Order: sequence, then structure tokens, then C-alpha cells
Amino acid sequence: MNEQVIVEKCKNFALEILQNDSSGHDFLHVTRVVKLAKHIYQNEQKGNLFLIEVAAWLHDVGDKKLHNDIEMHNEIIPDFLKELSVSESKIDQIMEIINNISFSKNTAIEKLNWETKIIQDADKLDAMGAIGIARTFAFGGKTGNLLYHPKIKPFTSSEIKTTINHFYEKLLLLKDKMHTNTAKGIAEKRHHIMENFLEDFFNEL
Ligand code: ADP
Ligand code: NI
Repeated sequence: MNEQVIVEKCKNFALEILQNDSSGHDFLHVTRVVKLAKHIYQNEQKGNLFLIEVAAWLHDVGDKKLHNDIEMHNEIIPDFLKELSVSESKIDQIMEIINNISFSKNTAIEKLNWETKIIQDADKLDAMGAIGIARTFAFGGKTGNLLYHPKIKPFTSSEIKTTINHFYEKLLLLKDKMHTNTAKGIAEKRHHIMENFLEDFFNEL
């Protein structure tokens, strides 16, 4: 099977599994991540585009928040790729990329390959800017969190989780975690969008 057809099949597989997801890892999230990852690749010319596209389409298929079983994607993704006659060695490479994206906190940066770094950058960018703001409030609403709490100051951890606090716990820190210069540039703009939003938000209280 040629590579373009395999990528198309991965896209359809992601659509099938993620179309009803409402945890923030829906099919349109993955579609944006693929688009951003391809853009970063075009600029940086690092890594292998086929591996980037396949791993990006499949990166959230086995997310533990969807399946409650972190091991599950280590079976369903290789099984799916085997059916497409992808070689064992490519499947191993793809699984290493996908596992390192989700386990990013535990893997030393020096050990990450370019495919992983580029998809991580794209995934983080999608949590920032206007889209990131929308996703965060969607997640907070679904979880039943308050928008904000007058007594919770930014950066404090608290029993009460608020969506506004998530910006200070995580989203405002993302711009300094990008691997590529292309992503750093996009992150800078998206960071300002979030800062402006927060300023407006507090001004309206
Ligand atoms: P990833 O799987 O890409 O590391 P997460 O699962 O942490 O991302 O988050 C997916 C989306 O849900 C992001 O847009 C993120 O901001 C949002 N999100 C995650 N945790 C929270 C939270 N506690 N409050 C609000 N939004 C959250
Ligand atoms: Ni993702």
C-alpha cells in the first residue's frame, strides 16, 4: 500500500474512534494537530513526514482518558497498522513516537526524536490561543468545574479546580516548552491571545 493511502486510512481510523469524543481529543483536534505538525515539518525539514503524519493522526486514538486503559493503544494501533501491511520496524517507530508524546513528562528531551518533538509542539499549540481557550472551557464545563473562584489566586493549587486557574497551572507555561523555532513563533502569538483574554476577563469582574 502506498504511503499516501496509509495516511488516509489512519485519518479514517481516527475519525471512527474519536468522532464522539468530548474530552478535548476529538477528531477536529487531531485534524488541527496534523495540519500544524505538517506546517512545522515544512519549515524545519526535520524528521520523516510519513511517520509524522501517521503518528499525528493516531496520537490520541488510545488516550487513557478515552479508554481508561493505557495499554490498550499498544494493541489496537499495531494491529490496525499490520492490516495495512506497514512493516514491523515502522510500526515500532510509530509506537515509540506515540508513546513518547503521551509520556512526555518522563522522557528526557535529548532522547526524543524529531517526529515526536514536532507532534508534541503541534499538540501543545492546539491547547493555546483562541482554540485553546475554547477547549479549556469546554473541558472545564464537562468536568463541572467553576469558571473561576474569587478566592483562588493564580498559581495556587486548591481543592477547588477552576478553569481560569488551569491557565496559570499549565497553559501559560506552554510557550517555553516548544522544541522547534517554528512552534516558538506561533506559541508567542497564541500566548498573547491568552494573556489578553485573561486581562479582559479580570477587568470584567
Ligand atoms: P494533552 O492530552 O494534549 O496533554 P490534556 O488532556 O491535558 O492535553 O488536555 C486536553 C485539553 O483539555 C486541553 O485543551 C487542556 O487545556 C484541557 N484541560 C486539561 N485539563 C484541564 C483542566 N483541569 N481544566 C480545564 N481544561 C483542562
Ligand atoms: Ni492531542
